[in-house]
Amino acid sequence: MTITFHLNGEEVVLQDFDPAATLLDFLREERGLTGTKEGCNEGDCGACTVMVSDPTGAKPLNSCILFLPQLNGKSVRTVEGAADTDGTLHPVQDAMITHHGSQCGFCTPGFVMSMVTAHKNGATDHDVQLAGNLCRCTGYAPIIRAAEAAAKAPVPQWISKETLPTATPAANMPRSADELAVLYEAKPEARLVAGATDLGLWVTKGLRDLGEMIFLDGCADLKEVSENEHEIRIGAMVDMNRLREVITPLHPSYGEMIRRFASQQVRAAATLGGNIANGSPIGDNPPALIALGAHLHLRQGNNRRVIALEDFFVDYGKQDRKPGEFIEAVSLPRQADRLRVYKLSKRFDQDISAVLGAFNVSVTDDQITAARIAFGGLAGRPKRASHLEAALIGQPWNEASIAAAAAELDRDFSPLSDMRASAPYRLETARNMLSRYFADLNGTGQSVLEVRS
Ligand SMILES: Cc1cc2nc3c(=O)[nH]c(=O)nc-3n(C[C@H](O)[C@H](O)[C@H](O)COP(=O)(O)OP(=O)(O)OC[C@H]3O[C@@H](n4cnc5c(N)ncnc54)[C@H](O)[C@@H]3O)c2cc1C
Ligand code: FES
Ligand code: FES
Repeated sequence: MTITFHLNGEEVVLQDFDPAATLLDFLREERGLTGTKEGCNEGDCGACTVMVSDPTGAKPLNSCILFLPQLNGKSVRTVEGAADTDGTLHPVQDAMITHHGSQCGFCTPGFVMSMVTAHKNGATDHDVQLAGNLCRCTGYAPIIRAAEAAAKAPVPQWISKETLPTATPAANMPRSADELAVLYEAKPEARLVAGATDLGLWVTKGLRDLGEMIFLDGCADLKEVSENEHEIRIGAMVDMNRLREVITPLHPSYGEMIRRFASQQVRAAATLGGNIANGSPIGDNPPALIALGAHLHLRQGNNRRVIALEDFFVDYGKQDRKPGEFIEAVSLPRQADRLRVYKLSKRFDQDISAVLGAFNVSVTDDQITAARIAFGGLAGRPKRASHLEAALIGQPWNEASIAAAAAELDRDFSPLSDMRASAPYRLETARNMLSRYFADLNGTGQSVLEVRS
């Protein structure tokens, strides 16, 4: 495999390298670019953040869980390339000095690269942009002040003029779903790599050998979103930040949940297809999509099939996917917005859910006519609460019906206790989420973000 990318403005061509090598190791060990730091090596701390540009724009990415082939045809800028070649500092670097945004400095290169990327993109929601960067000694106030100050400066010319190399067609890097279908049918034992925010950890933490890898990033058609009057179709390679843009106008509560999915860096890499295919019982998208009645579009060679998303999750660690079959897209029926998605996790940002509840209940003339309710974290797979749904349908939309039906959750789920939450706590919070849904739809709900002293 041969790949080409730009690194701080210089072209890099790599041949015969390990496709499971991470960008972080390459930068530090092969190039001596040790400004990029290794903190957690699992996507959690942001110390390794770099800016990666492709034809869709600039993204902050965690280089510790980014495999080198994912860079083909792209441009990488590390903290060494934040300043101009004559030493002129980037406005963000200047502002970090002026506002005392660094003490020990270990986290600083990652912060600077997240801020350089946000500055380039004109993003001023600094808390959101920096939620994936951990600092243990400076504290966030001076860093946020620096980001606010830098936002007033124009994007420096050496950052705005980032160029991209011509992508070299490479083995195991298909450029369309058609090419992927042929390749994967011929090599069904190969490992598909989407954003690598799960698979990266298999390598850096699990020390696993991924075997032959097929990289999906070049499949432009898998990144498409299309819509008609009946449905919205979202390609499997759509990342979480793009998904948030697509979903927010339709179902704002779902969009708000995606804001809390991991961090800006992870959302910029993590794909919808990966979040479903990994079969995790605590993946955040499946319950929301199941509550919306989503369908999964699967493809094996030229054979395509469409199934209800909930049917994909057969059991813990078992999905309805054949060898050589991949996810092409997810489709959602257009509908009035009655969806609410509640994510419960130990930290507000950058944390995996203990319980995630998604509620979509239709009411006509004060009577419940339809209900789709799904949870993550209550079973070995994302699962509908079918007893609860049945108990609600036909009942009046009032507090008494909700309270009576809530008991059905005990029939739907027997959750496990683990480090995130105990089984009784999970069930109690699920019942509370149902009450919250009733309050939210009646306009009496209260978001903790709106509570003021
Ligand atoms: C720091 C951190 C925080 C996280 N926080 C969250 C969170 O808040 N919520 C959450 O739900 N998840 C979270 N995750 C998990 C992860 O980001 C998501 O599951 C993500 O959506 C995985 O997508 P990916 O594109 O990175 O998948 P990859 O790692 O590339 O792949 C995951 C699996 O899916 C398979 N696959 C990928 N695409 C396809 C396809 N099109 N067809 C068939 N198989 C495919 C791969 O072969 C692999 O088995 C977090 C991860 C990290 C590192
Ligand atoms: S080293 Fe912590 S996110 Fe990469
Ligand atoms: S300056 Fe020390 S961890 Fe941030």
